[in-house]
Amino acid sequence: MSFLPAPHGGKLIEAYDPSYDVSSIQKEIEIDAIALSDLELIGIGLFSPLTGFLGKEDYESVVANMRLADNTIWSIPVTLPVSTETAKTLQVGEEIKLVFNKEVYGVIKVSEWYEPDLDKEALEVYKTQELAHPGVRRLYERGPVYVAGDVTLVKKPEKGIFGDVWYEPKQTRAFFEEKGWKTIVGFQTRNPIHRAHEYIQKAALETVDGLFVNPLVGETKSDDIPADVRLKSYRVLLENYYPAERVQLGVYPAAMRYAGPREAIFHAIARKNFGCTHFIVGRDHAGVGNYYGTYDAQLIFSEFPEGELGIKPLFFEHSFYCTKCEGMASDKTCPHGKEDRVILSGTKVREMLRSGQLPPSTFSRKEVVEVLIEGMKESAHV
Ligand code: ADX
Repeated sequence: MSFLPAPHGGKLIEAYDPSYDVSSIQKEIEIDAIALSDLELIGIGLFSPLTGFLGKEDYESVVANMRLADNTIWSIPVTLPVSTETAKTLQVGEEIKLVFNKEVYGVIKVSEWYEPDLDKEALEVYKTQELAHPGVRRLYERGPVYVAGDVTLVKKPEKGIFGDVWYEPKQTRAFFEEKGWKTIVGFQTRNPIHRAHEYIQKAALETVDGLFVNPLVGETKSDDIPADVRLKSYRVLLENYYPAERVQLGVYPAAMRYAGPREAIFHAIARKNFGCTHFIVGRDHAGVGNYYGTYDAQLIFSEFPEGELGIKPLFFEHSFYCTKCEGMASDKTCPHGKEDRVILSGTKVREMLRSGQLPPSTFSRKEVVEVLIEGMKESAHV
């Protein structure tokens, strides 16, 4: 008997078939890195129950109600945008190769195509139409027509340095079972793991059997710290400060949407598909700028019955090191004032790293800071 939650929608989708014969298919659509990642994550079941890119009815339902047309909870549209010229050539029922950098990664069986109301999508999903929002800008840039249809993943993209921490849901599920973990908390991040992240992870781990550290390594905005640099920082942190028998590192290969509350739900569903029973949501989860309230990404969970969502969110207040408490604490547990708290914004930390200044060890472990500074020199894009 398994203690792990059933995949979202009931069963794990498997739409990977490397033996699929694409030789007779002539037409192709050039896809971008986000669509490639979405294709793969549909194919390996991380986006279960999706079997392809959303059709109009599902899309409109997700945008308006955060549910697929059959009422399954789903908060972020997963769509395949194309140009109007490409749309003119489409035929219902045809198969088209999905190509990235001249390689065929998948096939879509076209069921329909439609013009999305991008203004509505921006407002409902991202809560703003401002192009300064990275998710909104990408939405408007990506294309005016969405093609829908079931997909087959025919080739998995190369994993590069992520190879040994790249697990599919069926692998994480098997691994959790093997470990005998009955409760597993998933942790999403697009940043290096600083002391506040470590604090909430370990506070959560106190109450469950295992921790799945699951950093996002898909597309992020250009000023976020690159995933390859972050990966080194995760490894060094886990080696030095985490009990190996209770903690598993594995990447979350999706693109970052920066959709705040809606993305928190989306993140939770993907972690449920990985087999997690719990999911950490701290302050301003998946937020950017000041588009969302500090705890909006927690409040949105009350819109869905917990049993229906099938994964339990664990909420954490804004955490920091307090010099008076002499330890990590949060708004909930620390009685002291702002002047006693070590709080640095992501932007400030990146600035410090760029100029070779070390953030204090009360903010980030020294091993992590060293790796970040080194990585910054090498990649010159932090
Ligand atoms: S996110 O875009 O991936 O959510 P980030 O990497 O900053 O951004 O956060 C990862 C997780 O840690 C999120 O659940 C976020 O809410 C939480 N978090 C980040 N910083 C803090 C903090 N200082 N206090 C409490 N929770 C935090």
